[in-house]
Amino acid sequence: MSDTQKDISPSRRAFLRGAAATGVGLAAGSASAQGTPDPLITEKQDWAMTTGAGVDETPYGLPIKYEGDVIRRNVPWLTADPISSINFTPIHALDGTITPQGCAFERHHSGAIELKKEDYRLMINGLVDQPLVFTYADLERFPRENRTFFLECAANTGMEWAGAQLNGAQFTHGMIHNMEYSGVSLRTLLEEAGLTAAGDLSDKWVYVEGADASSNGRSIPMEKALDDVMVAFKANGEALRMEHGYPVRLVVPGWEGNMWVKWLRRIEVTAQAVEGREETSKYTDTLADGTSRKWTWVMDAKSVVTSPSPQSPIAHGTGPLVITGLAWSGRGAITGVDVSKDGGKTWEKARLAKPGEKMALTRFYLDTDWDGSEMLLQSRAHDETGYVQPTKAQLREVRGENSVYHNNCIQTWHVKANGEAENVEVSS
Ligand code: MTE
Ligand code: CO
Repeated sequence: MSDTQKDISPSRRAFLRGAAATGVGLAAGSASAQGTPDPLITEKQDWAMTTGAGVDETPYGLPIKYEGDVIRRNVPWLTADPISSINFTPIHALDGTITPQGCAFERHHSGAIELKKEDYRLMINGLVDQPLVFTYADLERFPRENRTFFLECAANTGMEWAGAQLNGAQFTHGMIHNMEYSGVSLRTLLEEAGLTAAGDLSDKWVYVEGADASSNGRSIPMEKALDDVMVAFKANGEALRMEHGYPVRLVVPGWEGNMWVKWLRRIEVTAQAVEGREETSKYTDTLADGTSRKWTWVMDAKSVVTSPSPQSPIAHGTGPLVITGLAWSGRGAITGVDVSKDGGKTWEKARLAKPGEKMALTRFYLDTDWDGSEMLLQSRAHDETGYVQPTKAQLREVRGENSVYHNNCIQTWHVKANGEAENVEVSS
């Protein structure tokens, strides 16, 4: 039976029944409970006395001003220079799984560029039958697909290897976003150029690069290139934002964000990996003995409780509490998430909002009753390959503490009796 079938918990049903019987609404709070008239119910309100904003005042809508803190944030000491920069998705304040482009984290090695569709060219060259150059309009004439995937920077959670450091899910886990992409499969474009000249494809590669100064070149094995990689021009239904690679970016499902080249300008079919900067001195993991792991493309299964968390404390006291978070795996679909309130000693099965989708974010909930006692809140993801998200100790055993990239260990939030939460580490 899938987790999504699980019914609302008995304790919650009892609470809701109790609330209805005494006339205390979930949101009405203590004022109504004490019989004090609530002016929001009994008085006429300003917003009902005049007309509201007209439709032509907002040709393109932004979030209402009361949501002004649901924004990307950066960590000043991580952003030495704003053109080689990183900011973080406010995952502590979002729900569902789709990340709006306007608050989806950005990572640029040489700044975001403004590239017009008219000036856009995509070259396919190297070991192909016919080198080709596509305009943006050309790309729009190939059969299109729509698919939702997460993009996680390999450095997400990278500051936490040596100890709990950044105080908030946005900062520890916010180098991630999840969008619905529309575009053309890379296979379609490679086949248009023809791969006969490449001979045996099993040992071939593609080298992909962007039009920005950094170019962010990466080598991708042909097997992956022909499997599920997309050349995307829309995200969540609209054009890519400049910062996400307008007008065209590469989508490399389940693989580290660095390979998702933005402002994609060239795809070269090669006989071997190029071994460029972004895949040798960067995006490799140094182990305890000084050797490095290379070609660490896949993002292993991971999860985090987004609320309660340091930026999203419990504000309502004891009683019903919705614990929620995100889970994902670069190896396929999430099949389950467990939540622990005691630092991993005991686990409860969380409810998945929808069955897990391959290489996309999955939202989980644990509907619980909080008695006001302290919690060491954790989540643990399982994916369809049978992989279970490791503890920090287990990950350190294999990887040491020298790494920056690919930290997918279990996160702990210490939730205190006053509802505030803090980033901590437990020993096992
Ligand atoms: N592509 C180009 N051309 N230039 C870049 O600097 N940064 C990479 C990747 N693609 C980068 C790029 C890195 S490290 C990541 S994590 C993702 O883009 C970030 O994508 P986003 O800015 O849309 O979140
Ligand atoms: Co990155």
